[in-house]
Amino acid sequence: AAGASQKDLIKTLNSLQDTFAAIGGETVDLPQIVVVGSQSAGKSSVLETIVGRDFLPRGQGIVTRRPLVLQLVHTPAPLSSAPSAHTNDANANPNFTVPSSASASSSSEAPQEYGEFLHVDKRFYDFGEIRKEIENETLRVAGGNKGISRLPIHLKIFSPNVLNLTLVDLPGLTKIPVGDQPTDIERQIRNLVLDFVSKPNCVILAISPANVDLANSESLKLARAVDPQGRRTIGVLTKLDLMDAGTHAADILTGRVYPLKLGFIGVVGRSQQDINAQKPMDEQLRSEEDFFRTHPGYRNIAHRCGTKFLAKTLNQVLMNHIRDKLPDMKARLNTLMGQTQQELNAFGDSAFLGEGHRGTLILQLMTQFVRDFVASIDGTSLEIST
Ligand code: GDP
Ligand code: NA
Ligand code: MG
Repeated sequence: AAGASQKDLIKTLNSLQDTFAAIGGETVDLPQIVVVGSQSAGKSSVLETIVGRDFLPRGQGIVTRRPLVLQLVHTPAPLSSAPSAHTNDANANPNFTVPSSASASSSSEAPQEYGEFLHVDKRFYDFGEIRKEIENETLRVAGGNKGISRLPIHLKIFSPNVLNLTLVDLPGLTKIPVGDQPTDIERQIRNLVLDFVSKPNCVILAISPANVDLANSESLKLARAVDPQGRRTIGVLTKLDLMDAGTHAADILTGRVYPLKLGFIGVVGRSQQDINAQKPMDEQLRSEEDFFRTHPGYRNIAHRCGTKFLAKTLNQVLMNHIRDKLPDMKARLNTLMGQTQQELNAFGDSAFLGEGHRGTLILQLMTQFVRDFVASIDGTSLEIST
């Protein structure tokens, strides 16, 4: 039999992550894609283009000052006249962040894309407001004078136009303290980044600007420290448009300069001038495609350059990653299920009487998720000990 589709499997994993987040604690170490690089390398710009919407603070200097854990959730495009399918589906996975009430108005009016933060109970339909909320939350916790906080901002974006990915945007690696930054800022940021990328199932998006010699790349240095074999690092070369006239980076993009099993992908994002002029993202994607198709250095490899190819590669990498981790995750889920059952047994029947009792709720949710999880994996099974 054909295995579960890539989309289904990743979707189930997202649900699992929701469940464990709601229970409290990261019980299952799910893969995340983390962006690493020096300040202004283009990390936030790359993340934004993967999402396909303008919503991240970007710019010269230190802009990203708290980790942003960004979960993209693929939602089906609503039908033109029928109510949205998933709000009517009684068997749909419970979801802690999307109210299942019938509050949604007719789907023809309902915007298809929205964001939700963990720290505020509200749907954001305006992506400009999402950016403002990130800025305000950054300011609230990290202060107004270039300070950095290791406390993450959690944001989910629901959209028919995204692949299911969890991405993390991080402050840039930097050397010299400015503003309120402590004298050991370099070490602090490095440790913050290491916290994310040391996890063996984290995929590192190592961003290097093409107008700086690769030998000086901070991201590759750090990635090599935690992934010496280059197995879970994707190299991303930004600012290809800013290289000196007459030079190009085709050697790097074809893997002849620096060995990474997952390779290097070149992108061209919006310049500061484009951002100031509010150049739309789809226009930039077209410019980017033109850039690679017409550039003598990249013409022959244009099909594996650019933002769209990066997004595709990411999903494939994530999928392979999940497959590798399945046996381990199954074992951990199994243990967790057993523990929860034991706790419930200790409570006795009363645990099942109180309405919405936490233990009961957790067990129900977990049972459902584990079933979905198992159903989404071809040819494997999970023993649930009771
Ligand atoms: P971060 O600090 O690594 O998150 O970098 P940002 O995404 O905030 O970008 C820093 C600056 O570089 C911004 O002014 C962007 O407009 C600019 N930038 C990012 N990518 C590119 C690119 O591919 N080409 C050009 N010309 N500018 C870029
Ligand atoms: Na920046
Ligand atoms: Mg940034």
